[in-house]
Amino acid sequence: MRVLNFGSLNIDYVYQVDHFVQPGETLSSDHLQINCGGKGLNQSIALSRAGVETWHAGYVGKEGSFLREKLEQAGVHTEFVKQVPGNNGHAIIQVDASGQNSILLHSGSNGQIDEAFVDRVLDRFSSEDVVLLQNEISCVGYILEQAARRGMRVALNAAPANNALLSMPLEHLTWLLVNEVEGSFLSGQQSSEAIVSCLTQRYPRTMLVLTLGTEGSITALGNTRAHAGIFPVQAVDTTAAGDTFTGYFLRGMLDGAAPEECLRLASAASALAVTRPGAADSVPAYQEVLDFLEHH
Ligand code: RIB
Repeated sequence: MRVLNFGSLNIDYVYQVDHFVQPGETLSSDHLQINCGGKGLNQSIALSRAGVETWHAGYVGKEGSFLREKLEQAGVHTEFVKQVPGNNGHAIIQVDASGQNSILLHSGSNGQIDEAFVDRVLDRFSSEDVVLLQNEISCVGYILEQAARRGMRVALNAAPANNALLSMPLEHLTWLLVNEVEGSFLSGQQSSEAIVSCLTQRYPRTMLVLTLGTEGSITALGNTRAHAGIFPVQAVDTTAAGDTFTGYFLRGMLDGAAPEECLRLASAASALAVTRPGAADSVPAYQEVLDFLEHH
């Protein structure tokens, strides 16, 4: 079984700041790092570091070939990573003293993915394979629909939340992964119980995975629930913690592990990720996560 991740590839410009810049404020940062990122790229790397055979499909711009190399170094298959004219997608990321981030995105090449490309790539996979998606590229709804029509299982990390999500056929998903902001956006509800109850009723055949920050995470499928807590660590940079969680959760699911075990594995991996700076570079290897779990 293979995982095909149709996903964004961003250049992350990361600025260390005391606090996030406020409206009307001009703020200086004396520290800039240029990293490989994008929820898509980060999740492909997380899957691959978790030991899953992963194919990435996506577009880079003229200055983005190092992103493809980054995937290759992590063992991700890149024959469906294509260079297109125009600027690469990028993100301007502020990281404050507590390790929290604030992200401004420009889709660039990620927004050029079209249906013909999607069809060509899907033709190379079978119903045994799994598709992973995030909401940072064009054609997400189309990919979901086509992959499901071909009998593939599809996971969507519904990040970032925007109106495009509302017209997607989310009922075809096998897994829907959201944080509280995305869950609230999709359901129109505030409390975690209300989010879970609304989304499980709306998508009865989809496993909902809801991350709740310090409250841990929940899976819900119909009336069946599982929960796991977090592993408290000193955060340095929370960028890509959610991406790490998604990759490792899927690894657990593909192994046939119980939902609670999958949450525990994913929480341990993202706890390790937040102790390290950067996006893709912060994703731990599988053995590190197992060692961490053994000691916690
Ligand atoms: O989830 C983190 C990612 O979000 C960053 O790498 C940035 O590129 C944005 O897409």
